[in-house]
Amino acid sequence: MRFETIAARGGRDVPSDTRPLTPPIYQTNVFVFDTLEQVEAVWEGKEPGFVYGRYGTPNHTMLEAMMAELEGGEAAVACASGMGALTALFLALLTSGDHLVSSRDLYGTTTALFDEELRRWGVDTTFVDATEPARVHAALTPRTRAVYVESVSNPLLKLVDVEALSGELRSRGVALIVDSSIASPAVLRPLGLGATVVHHSATKFLSGHGDVTGGIVVGRKELMDRVRASTIRIGANLSPFDAWLASRGLRTLHVRLERQCANALALARFLEGRPEVARVYYPGLASHPQDGLARRLFKNGAGAMLSCDLKGGAPAVERFMASLRFIEFAPSYGDVATTWTYPARTSHRRIAESAQAELGIGPGLVRLSVGIEAVEDLMEDLAQALS
Ligand SMILES: Cc1ncc(COP(=O)(O)O)c(C=O)c1O
Repeated sequence: MRFETIAARGGRDVPSDTRPLTPPIYQTNVFVFDTLEQVEAVWEGKEPGFVYGRYGTPNHTMLEAMMAELEGGEAAVACASGMGALTALFLALLTSGDHLVSSRDLYGTTTALFDEELRRWGVDTTFVDATEPARVHAALTPRTRAVYVESVSNPLLKLVDVEALSGELRSRGVALIVDSSIASPAVLRPLGLGATVVHHSATKFLSGHGDVTGGIVVGRKELMDRVRASTIRIGANLSPFDAWLASRGLRTLHVRLERQCANALALARFLEGRPEVARVYYPGLASHPQDGLARRLFKNGAGAMLSCDLKGGAPAVERFMASLRFIEFAPSYGDVATTWTYPARTSHRRIAESAQAELGIGPGLVRLSVGIEAVEDLMEDLAQALS
């Protein structure tokens, strides 16, 4: 072979018969075939194999298998973001004319997806207070195909009793979709409580190191096959590198969350005792309005997210921001480092102030994603900033 051919084709054979302990990143957008028979067999799923990047790679399969097992579901589909996974799921599940019932306590972009995108597709959404199962059941119509809730809501950490919701929905053939991004499977596993599909922004606790944008849904294989078909058609596939990073993150999910939950509980108690704080929202506190449900749901900690209202509203939040020494403002959550954000101007900024107030998102509300640091350092930084 000549220079140009060697450059284009060389160095592709793996000179080893031993397997790596850590799976490699399959950074390829296509796979090669030796016979037309093999093309046919792999394409039709009769032989294991991969075809094309958008259809999935071994890194996707490994992540999906691990997540399906951790959530106790049959199959999973990994996508380019939490919103990408939701879009693919709804394309697979809903048809024009269908009706959706949703919790009104949602991540702001999810509300926008329902209000602005689904509505244009001919799918209407009724928003209800899903902390009361009876309100969800009362909103069902013969056209209702799915109910959507966050198991632990963003940003006020309200809880949904998935078990109490699910019986009636199952008997009416309505899918119950649970966004469990804030809880993670280390804290809560909604499929075991009767959810049809569990949805995650893998951007958060699953990957855990602030370096992935991804999403994943887990549920019955037949439904996941349809979600995969939608994902392939809309091109909402995750990159192999992000799939690999998310798989690596998952390996330490339980130990991260163990520490993060313990830190969050300690900080919630600490903040509750501070005179600058009007109210703390954390499901691990006895003051949480759904304390009874929280005790039933959370056996290994109540999650790593908490919110609190600063007395003095927006000006107090600005002074707080200017005073924090190392806890960074970052409009996301789930990292091993503690971060905080201001929902009124970030995740819920598109919602009118009056609607924010109705939801309980006031001008003094700050949300913390608690990391794995020494909790004393976190308390010291918060204490001096509050002072
Ligand atoms: C509860 C919840 N669901 C879904 C999403 C969307 O996920 P992504 O940003 O990965 O698209 C977010 C993002 O913050 C979220 O907080």
